Amino acid sequence: MSTNAHLLAPGEGETVFTVNSTPIKFGPGALREVGADAQALGMKRVALFVDSHVLAGATGETVLGALRAAGLDVAVYDQTRCEPNSDSFEAAAAFAREGAFDGFVSLGGGSVMDTAKAANLLSTYPDELIAYINAPIGRAKPIPGRLKPHIACPTTCGTGSETTGITIVDLTSAGLKTGIASPWLKPSLAIIDPTTTETLPGGVVAATGFDVLTHAVESYTARPYTSRPRPEHPSQRPPYQGSTPYNDIGSTAAIRLGGRFLARAVRDASDTEARHQLMFASTLAGLAFGSAGVHIPHAMSYSVATLKHAFTATGYEDRAAMVPHGIAVVINAPAAFRFTAAANPARHLEAAAALGADVAGAAPEDAGEILAQAFIALMRETGLPSGIAALGYADADVPALAEGAFAQQRPLVMAPRSVSKADLERIYRDAMRYW
Ligand SMILES: NC(=O)c1ccc[n+]([C@@H]2O[C@H](COP(=O)([O-])OP(=O)(O)OC[C@H]3O[C@@H](n4cnc5c(N)ncnc54)[C@H](O)[C@@H]3O)[C@@H](O)[C@H]2O)c1
Ligand SMILES: [Fe+2]
Repeated sequence: MSTNAHLLAPGEGETVFTVNSTPIKFGPGALREVGADAQALGMKRVALFVDSHVLAGATGETVLGALRAAGLDVAVYDQTRCEPNSDSFEAAAAFAREGAFDGFVSLGGGSVMDTAKAANLLSTYPDELIAYINAPIGRAKPIPGRLKPHIACPTTCGTGSETTGITIVDLTSAGLKTGIASPWLKPSLAIIDPTTTETLPGGVVAATGFDVLTHAVESYTARPYTSRPRPEHPSQRPPYQGSTPYNDIGSTAAIRLGGRFLARAVRDASDTEARHQLMFASTLAGLAFGSAGVHIPHAMSYSVATLKHAFTATGYEDRAAMVPHGIAVVINAPAAFRFTAAANPARHLEAAAALGADVAGAAPEDAGEILAQAFIALMRETGLPSGIAALGYADADVPALAEGAFAQQRPLVMAPRSVSKADLERIYRDAMRYW
């Protein structure tokens, strides 16, 4: 039970949860059907947002071929930025406005799918990007209504963006990574073809695979939906509900799959079983966190990703120096779970067990350390950096890191215990070096 639950008087707690899922098509060969799916959604003139690495390979050919074979007029946009920023969002929005499209298909990792969501929004309901960005950084203007149909097709295992109502952006003016969250941003259909992962470099599988594991463990350990007050009207129910029995099914399955297959999927591109199972884990974790929410490791990731650009991860050598999202998140995870475990030791132990840790006879007070060690072992095995010091951060950076993380109240309120700026400073210091 969450430590927040005691704040509610008996009878005031939420009793209802909802499941608002994007329809999913999953399996090898699924992308061959994208033309028919686009047609069924009424698309005639399609903007195809595509990752440049993917466009050059067989997957790009399959998707373009399928859209054209269905008689659709397709314009290709391959200028998306890896880890998009406000400039790359604006450029994509200009392309979408000028093209007057009636539908969007995105084919790539989170960077591409998020760019297509933003371009769809900013061309359908034109306004400045900052108007829609989450408060307090932006004005959190509600999206007025339905967007144009969008089919999201992930090629990393990965963000889960294909089913979430979120788009993440590095807001150049504020020097901050943040986003827009609205149910209207959820794609109309997610087509997940796990064969797309077969061309991913091992380092990208490691970074994106840890995004999956943190989505799953954070949504499983998020404060329970029953710890929120019951809304007076259903429209006031927040998009992030906290952990629910429904989300728990997907998040625990994703943790088990990640624990079993992540290292194999990183090591060997020809290990089809491992890569396909990790892709399934990614979808399950995306569905879980898109509804439950994530918390401290994600809140802390945004300042890790934006304050210093001095790191080049394995698999990202042809991109500008930056900390890939999954690494920026998992690097905080062992320290953050040491902090949150006291709020719900049983769930932290269950997550550690699902990752493969031996929890027989473990005491509740050991839960945080056991889960932290399970993450650390997998990070070492897959060649991740040993802590934020390896990304270029030192003790003097901790106040600025904590300041940036504390501004991320949207995820922080989903944590199973309340977290102050001083707590965040302590967690960053603990995340400096794990081995
Ligand atoms: N909207 C959401 O719900 C959500 C959730 C988590 C993360 N994100 C965001 O997603 C972005 C990260 O996305 P990502 O981790 O999927 O990676 P990515 O889209 O940035 O891609 C990572 C690298 O892999 C390459 N690549 C992608 N697919 C490939 C393939 N099949 N074969 C070979 N190379 C390929 C890309 O060119 C790039 O170099 C970040 O901006 C992050 O903040 C969004
Ligand atoms: Fe993430």
